[in-house]
Amino acid sequence: MVEKKNIDWGSLGFAYQHTDYSYVSNYADGAWDEGSLTPDHTVQLSECAGLLHYCQEVFEGLKAYTQSNGDIVCFRPDLNASRMADSARRICMPEFPVERFVEAVKQVVKANAAWVPPYGSGATLYVRPFMFATGDVIGVKPADQYQFRILVTPVGPYYKGGVKPVKLQVSSYDRAAPHGTGNIKAGLNYAMSLYPSVEAHSKGYADNMFLDPETRSYVEESGGANIIFVADDGTLVVPQSFTDSILPSITRRSLVYVAENMLGMKVEQRPVRFDEIDQFVECGMCGTAAVISPVGEVDSADKKIIFKNGFETVGPVMAKLRQTLVDIQQGDIEAPEGWIYKIC
Ligand code: PLP
Ligand code: COI
Repeated sequence: MVEKKNIDWGSLGFAYQHTDYSYVSNYADGAWDEGSLTPDHTVQLSECAGLLHYCQEVFEGLKAYTQSNGDIVCFRPDLNASRMADSARRICMPEFPVERFVEAVKQVVKANAAWVPPYGSGATLYVRPFMFATGDVIGVKPADQYQFRILVTPVGPYYKGGVKPVKLQVSSYDRAAPHGTGNIKAGLNYAMSLYPSVEAHSKGYADNMFLDPETRSYVEESGGANIIFVADDGTLVVPQSFTDSILPSITRRSLVYVAENMLGMKVEQRPVRFDEIDQFVECGMCGTAAVISPVGEVDSADKKIIFKNGFETVGPVMAKLRQTLVDIQQGDIEAPEGWIYKIC
């Protein structure tokens, strides 16, 4: 087992620090090169790179964990690989092959094993694969050269306070267009969400709840996580988008499986009207960075909604779902087949 870095793991927030290695592969003449680890954490670009002008950039986020026996593992990297391929296709970028993606994640996590926070520290190694256009374009068209990279960095909780319920505001802006790019993980969606996010933070909210961009009457997601609810009878209610503008969260899909198959819960996946959410007793944001972050209150221009079972502290259903997911990721309970990839 490698010796871990001397870091105060428990006080890490969600911030970047470079580690020992990143992974890099370049695409030119219709093919990816063989790729390698690099100690260089900078990127040099042409001033005319497609990334800088027409925003051809997609990314992913997953985590590596140290289990109680010292094994270092990743959670469902194959799903990040295929979602990144979907994202790439949507904005006319070449796909980075799924098997190569998983292999690259393994290589870069293994090379940075000393940076994977210890079991029980509350921190994890965040793995950020990303791909961008390096080729020159001046007319609006896809570039013909790209770079795929993976950076890794140790992180703590995404929302301050960890599992303390936070407040959301209903945004008066949209993060995506109907049938646009909201269902892929492209940097351009996050640029859209920055202004509303800064506004929400300045008013004391942790994030925004975005409604559907066509009618503004159905719940979509927050700036960096999907939203889930618990109904009075214990049913997990999972919003679906009829405008294809919710990112298909891997955490959310995993939680639906866990709820139905491991916890014996009833799950409803359907469009959820904003005006029905005051009937729900718990709310949470779920994602790789967020894990499950409980939401205690949602405020819109004319309404304040309090989730009665999850306002002061995390509600019992969200707590159970969160613990089960974390236990699976840390190897404390058996994972469904194929969810955990051992790295070293
Ligand atoms: N929604 C948005 C907008 C996100 O950025 C993320 C983060 O990846 C998620 C949802 C959660 O997705 P996942 O569970 O795959 O991390
Ligand atoms: C993730 O959860 O991995 C994300 O990419 C969300 C981002 C807002 C940090």
